[in-house]
This record gives sequence, structure tokens and C-alpha cells, in this order.
Amino acid sequence: MIKKSFQFQLVFVCILFGPYLSAQETGLDLMPVPKQVEIGEGQFVLNKDFSISLTGNYHQRLAHEATRFLRRLDQKTALFFTQHKVSGELPGAELVISVERPGEVRLHEDESYQLRIDAESIELKAQTDIGAIRGLETLLQLVGVSNGQNIFPVLTIHDSPRFHWRGLMLDVARHFMPMDVLYRTLDAMAAVKLNVLHLHLVDDQGFRFPTKAFPELLELSTDGQYYTREDLDEIIAYAHQRGIRVIPEIDVPGHATAILVAFPELGSKDTTYTLERFSGIFDPTLDPTNDAVYDFLDELFSEVAEVFPDPYFHIGGDENLGRHWNENEEIQAFMKANNLATNHDLQTYFNIRIQKILNKYGKHTMGWDEIMTPEMPKSAIIHSWRGNWEGMVAKQTLYDAARAGYETVLSNGYYLDLMMPASQHYLVDPAPAEMDLTEAERSRILGGEMCMWSELVIPETIDSRLWPRAAAVAERLWSPEEIRDVQDMYRRLSIISLQLEQLGLKHISSRNAILRKLAKSREIEPLKVLVEVVEPMKGYTRNTNGTLYTTFSPFMLWADAATADATVARVFNEDVGRYLSGKLEASQLRTQLDLWSNNHKKVLPIIKRSPALSEIESLSENLSRAAAIGLEAIGLIESGGKPSSGWVSRSQQVLEEARENGGRTELQMISGIAMLVDELKGL
Ligand code: ACM
Repeated sequence: MIKKSFQFQLVFVCILFGPYLSAQETGLDLMPVPKQVEIGEGQFVLNKDFSISLTGNYHQRLAHEATRFLRRLDQKTALFFTQHKVSGELPGAELVISVERPGEVRLHEDESYQLRIDAESIELKAQTDIGAIRGLETLLQLVGVSNGQNIFPVLTIHDSPRFHWRGLMLDVARHFMPMDVLYRTLDAMAAVKLNVLHLHLVDDQGFRFPTKAFPELLELSTDGQYYTREDLDEIIAYAHQRGIRVIPEIDVPGHATAILVAFPELGSKDTTYTLERFSGIFDPTLDPTNDAVYDFLDELFSEVAEVFPDPYFHIGGDENLGRHWNENEEIQAFMKANNLATNHDLQTYFNIRIQKILNKYGKHTMGWDEIMTPEMPKSAIIHSWRGNWEGMVAKQTLYDAARAGYETVLSNGYYLDLMMPASQHYLVDPAPAEMDLTEAERSRILGGEMCMWSELVIPETIDSRLWPRAAAVAERLWSPEEIRDVQDMYRRLSIISLQLEQLGLKHISSRNAILRKLAKSREIEPLKVLVEVVEPMKGYTRNTNGTLYTTFSPFMLWADAATADATVARVFNEDVGRYLSGKLEASQLRTQLDLWSNNHKKVLPIIKRSPALSEIESLSENLSRAAAIGLEAIGLIESGGKPSSGWVSRSQQVLEEARENGGRTELQMISGIAMLVDELKGL
């Protein structure tokens, strides 16, 4: 099977990294990288008679998914396939999919598959149809062109996921996400083999679950935006069709403003509540000493449990500071009488009671890591989110949970709303080899879940906040630990990004739509030059004190056109490094710097037409000033000249100022230019 010229390389690679060829070694554009790839010789050539046969014992979803695969492949190749529908066995078909048993959309289901492509035929084998569906996504990523023909490369893949829990949490409470967002998010998740959609349905800013028992909640706490039962049934069916589980979250006892707006008597403070419009951690909290709270939750949970078939039910439990508990004398007396020394103890008392309610409905508890106390039964899943993840080792609550005997899922490090570059999330590993856990403890780490908190995200922009970065994390959760080459990840991510657009995602197109809106014109080239080198302010800094914006702020601003990975700037900074080590001609950097240095005078007339863009005037000017410094630096480096007295420190000062944000975004090419200036230090 293995090409001769490849054999030496393969042996070499095996010695270094084990039995894998990484995407880089194979040259394939797959994401996530499969567990094992053997490259063969030759190609399978596609033509319009390409057809698919299904054999074995499979769930009917496979026929739908194979048909969807065929349509997507036809869109890619424009071959006008003669087969329209895939429905069962088809003698002579070129792609034969064989499955052992119907898959169940549940935790720990077998998602493995083997794909064998030779010049005449393709075989996709899997234990379950869900494994086969994962394999179809791989096959779709493999289509290429050779000598003017659409082809699949001859190869064999043995693949299975490293982690069983590969999730994405969508906060549909802060900003409601309509059905079209959920549909296209699920399509994209399936494309990169994610398998859990977690819906954060309730928070201080809104209640989105279609309760029948409590119409007051829909009347008072939704701003008219919530899912219907039919919506949720459809989303769950759509997800199951793709082998994706859907987990509901009802966040209690904190984050409870939306509930208390309708039922203030369930709160811990005698007050009226109004729906929260700002961002942050707020005090409204359910009263755990009030039996009516448990009656309410029993009724609500029974409805939620009826709609969502997955055995796991997320109860939130995060960020309850208990301030309203401290202020309430009756709650304090209750704590004393029941030997509950701390607010955490009181929350544990609450958790144990609601855990019993969930058991009644056949559900296991999942909750943010605050729910982990000795009294919490070991059947609960601890969702690890706290810690200083910038150090990339701070997964303490994950490890503590695994050591204490809980299954656990990592989100710390996967908060996509913080607008960190893909590389940063990509390198966060839930269970690195060097981790100090026993084999049994390690096996309790189920995987990870990305979080998309939506304080600053609306349906028009959520795709560009999720994608393509979510594909990089999807790879971390599926592929072998050794797959960690950031450069190769970015190479493949840019290809996957276009494939996601073909699926209907708006992460690329939304940028230009925002820029046209801001410019009030089709002429947006200079704005594109600028937006390509900025990233939104990171962490929670964009929304100063959580009060710069409200739920109703217009999130189609300059920063919303910017994305977390300013690729042009990253490549420029890398190019500077290559130039300084003699591996790149100065002319390449000059072309880029010329464009930037002339850009501000083109941006200015656009700003004049659009008051909403006045916030980027200094940002735009800073790009051009920094670029002019870069050009001067290259001129000096190339001529071997000496900078005039004070030039280096003055330039450094300008670059320092240019690091200041503008339009809630930050220029990302400053470090490259600073490297050019540094080269002239001390001359
Ligand atoms: C969280 O970010 N409060 C779970």
C-alpha cells in the first residue's frame, strides 16, 4: 500500500512519533487529522456515474447522510451525478459503506471508521452508522483535482476519536440565536466531527425554553425570543441525524434574574427584578430554603427532560457569590439550623435536592465546577471552566474532579468568546501525556467543550466568532495528542474555512457586509486592508466593566468586522523573522508596507462619510505611521546605513502608541515592525 518513495519517510516518522503520519507528512488537508493514514499510489477518478451503496445493519440516518454527502460532493465537483438518492444496496456502486449495527446518539458510542480508497473503488467500514458519517466527512475533505479531473487519493485511514465528548456550548440566553444559526452550526460541527451541542438556555438576560407550565416566564423574561417545542424537537432531530447529542442547561441557583422577573417570590431578596441588560456576575439568586423553589424546578425540569432525550442535564451552578443569601436573615437562620457553614455548603444542599429531582426524570447531573463537593454523587459530570488558562496548565478543577472520581469535561482554555487566536486554544490539551494522573483518573476526562458566551455576539456575527477557530479545537479533541504543529494547523484551517463557507456559514461573508454597512458604500478596500491586521480587544477588555454595551447595542461595529486571527498580520510578522534571517527578500515586505503606509489617506474620506467609523481614525493613522517606520527601517538595513540620532527611540515610542486600541480593536503587525526597528538598535 505504501508508496516506495514514502517508505523511508514513514519509517523515520514512526520512530519519531509512533504509527501516525500527521497531516503535514501526508500533505493532506484533513481537519481533524485521522489517527492513522497510509498513503498509496494513484488516484480514484470521479465521474458522473459515481454512486454509493449501503450494506449491513444501520440506522436510517445513514441513507440521509450519504445522500447529503453525494449532493455536497456534486456541489464541489459539478459532475452532475446520475445517482440522486442513496437508499440501500446498489450492485456495482463505487463507494460501498458497510455498517455493523445502528448507532445510538449517546456518550461513548463507537465513532470509529476505516476508509480504503483504491483506484477502482472505495470502501467505508464502521461499527455504527455514526462512525460511517464521520468517515464521510473525511472523504469529502479528501476530494482534490489532478490533471483536470476530480479525484480521491489512494490511501487507507483507520480513525477513531481521542475523546468521546467533543462539544460546543452556545449561550442562547444573552443573545437569542434563531433556528438558522443552530442549523448551520450543527452542519459545521458535523463537518469537523464535534458531537455535543450544549444549549445555555437561561441566564440573567433571558429565558429561552418553551415552558408550558409557566407562561409568565415567556411573557416577561424572553423579550419575545424563545424556542418553541417544535423548534427544539427539530434541532434535536437535526443534530441526531448528524450523530450530535444536545444537552440543555438551566443555570441555577445564580444567574437567575430571568426566572425571578416572573417569580420574584422564589428569590432570596424581597425586591422586584428586571431583566438584566448588562454583562457580568449579578446577585439575583434562587432561595434554597424555600420549598416552592423545588416545586418550581421539579415542574420545569420535567418539561426540559421531556424535550431533551440525552441522559445528561446541565444545572449550571456557576458564579453564585451568595450576596443575597448573606443579606437574608431567614436564610442565615436556616444555614445555622442545618449546620451549613458557608454559602458553598448551602449551594451543595440545593444541588443535592435538585439532583434528586433530576434522578426522578432519569437524568444525570452535569454542572460547572462549583458543583463539585463531597456530597455530590459520582454520577455527576463536572464541567471544568475556572483557572488561569493563559498558562495553559491551569486545569486544576479538571484534575481535581478526575482524582475525586468524577467524569469531567474541559472548557477552561476553550472560551472562543475571549477572541484569542486559534493557536492558543489549539494547544490546550485536556489530558497531556505528562499529566500527573493514574490511568483510571485519566479515563474520567471525557473531553472538552468550547464555550461561546454571547454577551457581544449576535446572529449576524456568531459564525465569525466560532469559525474557523472551532475546527482547530475540534481537532484537539479528535486527533492524536502528537498532532500539534501550529503552522500546519493554520495551513489546513484556511482550507477548512472555505469548506465551511460552502456549507452555508457566514464567517467570511459577514465581514464585508459589516464594512459595507459602516462605509455606506461598496467601496471598502481600504477598510479591508485595515481590518485584516486588527483583532478585537481580548478577554473581557472590549466591554469595559461589562457596561460599555447592553443587550441592545448595535453589534455590527468595527470590532465585529475584526476576527480573532488577523492572518495577514501573523504572516507579516513571520515574514519579518524570515527576512531578518536572510530567508526572504526585502521587496516582499516593502510591497506590504507600501500598501499600509498609503492606506490612511484612503480610509479618511470613508470615515468622513460615516460617523460610526470615527472611532478608527487614529487606528488607521497608526497603521500608516507604523508602516512608514517599517519602510525606513528596511531602507537602513538594506543600505547598511545608520539611523539618525534618536530615531530608534522615537520610532519605538510611535509603535508603543500604535498598540493602543482603536474601535475596540488592536493592530497586530506592530511586533513585526518593532523587530525591524530593533535590528537598528545600538548602531
Ligand atoms: C462560566 O463561564 N461562568 C461558566
